[in-house]
Amino acid sequence: MDVTVEGKRRLRGEIFAPPDKSISHRSVMLGAVAEGITRVERFLTADDCLRTVDCFKKMGVDILFEAPDKVIINGRGLRGLKKPDGPLYAGNSGTTIRLLSGILAGQGFEATITGDESILKRPMGRVVEPLTMMGAVIEGAGGGRYAPLTIRGGRLKGIRYELPVASAQVKSAILLAGLYAEGETTVIEKHKTRDHTEIMLAHFGGRISTSDGEVRLTPVDKLSAERVTVPGDISSAAFFMAAAAVTEGSELLIRDVGINPTRTGIIDVLREMGCNIKIYDERIWNGEKVADVLVKGEGLRGITIKGEIIPRLIDEIPVIAVAAAFAEGETIIRDAAELRVKESDRIKAIAVNLRRFGTEVTELEDGMIIRGGGFLKPAEFESFGDHRIAMAMAVAALAIPGPSRIKNAECVKISFPGFFETLEEVLC
Ligand code: S3P
Repeated sequence: MDVTVEGKRRLRGEIFAPPDKSISHRSVMLGAVAEGITRVERFLTADDCLRTVDCFKKMGVDILFEAPDKVIINGRGLRGLKKPDGPLYAGNSGTTIRLLSGILAGQGFEATITGDESILKRPMGRVVEPLTMMGAVIEGAGGGRYAPLTIRGGRLKGIRYELPVASAQVKSAILLAGLYAEGETTVIEKHKTRDHTEIMLAHFGGRISTSDGEVRLTPVDKLSAERVTVPGDISSAAFFMAAAAVTEGSELLIRDVGINPTRTGIIDVLREMGCNIKIYDERIWNGEKVADVLVKGEGLRGITIKGEIIPRLIDEIPVIAVAAAFAEGETIIRDAAELRVKESDRIKAIAVNLRRFGTEVTELEDGMIIRGGGFLKPAEFESFGDHRIAMAMAVAALAIPGPSRIKNAECVKISFPGFFETLEEVLC
């Protein structure tokens, strides 16, 4: 599906941010291994999260949709999952395959997990290594570095592990395996990554604490079912924040946005670039901070983004790069080599697309330099099958007079199925 976006329009009004993808995945995973009935409200019914649901159904968990975004999970307890009949399929979802590997490491059966073409190219050695140290036996393609992964769980022991890459997926896989281990499991992180697993484990009765860059988990006999209301996804809201930021005269209120401090780098960066963002009505939903966010489009300037903030905005870099193309001066992004191993090589995908409408971009191994301003013209953009690239380029299209085209834009359904419809609602 190719989509044409007509440029030079403003955004006005209000929207609800779609539910958070990371938290939706975790609600199903913890609900499945908890005891009792977990009710999830505002679940993200998008391809990635549905892959997680399917995997747990294949392991004998009753999961019922009362409504498209209301899920009831009949938890089977920590040791109640059943050996699946065939391979588990994660589709395009890194969160599904990596977090589930942690849970499978603790089971008394062997299971294989695989995914689509993109997943087969993404690094899995980063979860295989620590889970093997804990005692799991894992086989994977390329000597255990890639999916499909065949995981034989068993008796695990707790480890103390320093993350070699800033990754919440790796941290979470280790913590979930830690639920099944003998003794304490500690994960050390140099730069803090999203902590939704820690927050949700605590919500379900897990014993978990964080201090001085260390996350410590002590196994418990059981997790207890809970109600979960999923906050809006700041990574999805980010496309609307940036869209308002690059179209002067826009004013958009985004309701129910998750503002967990491990995820709010996008707000810090857009503010530093000169965008006017106000946060209203902060509240807590199942341990997660939520608020309404008002964004007003004003002129933007280029900045440097590197170091500690990178994990706090890693998924937002495609759309930040788009904002940078419309800013005055140069934007430098460093320390973001992880972008090369996301759903696509996002550094390359951004550079190819920004050049198409006339922006000067220098690709770096771990980031890029974007020279803002210049004469920008409508273009045809490639999604590279990557949902965040497709949405970022739709934002670019909005700020350029004339029609631009986003090719193979159906991939938005990975995280934000109603993206183009929601955009139309607030464009004027
Ligand atoms: C996620 C963690 C991040 C992020 C991904 C979701 C999660 O990946 O990019 O979209 O739900 O834990 P990494 O852990 O690979 O950085």
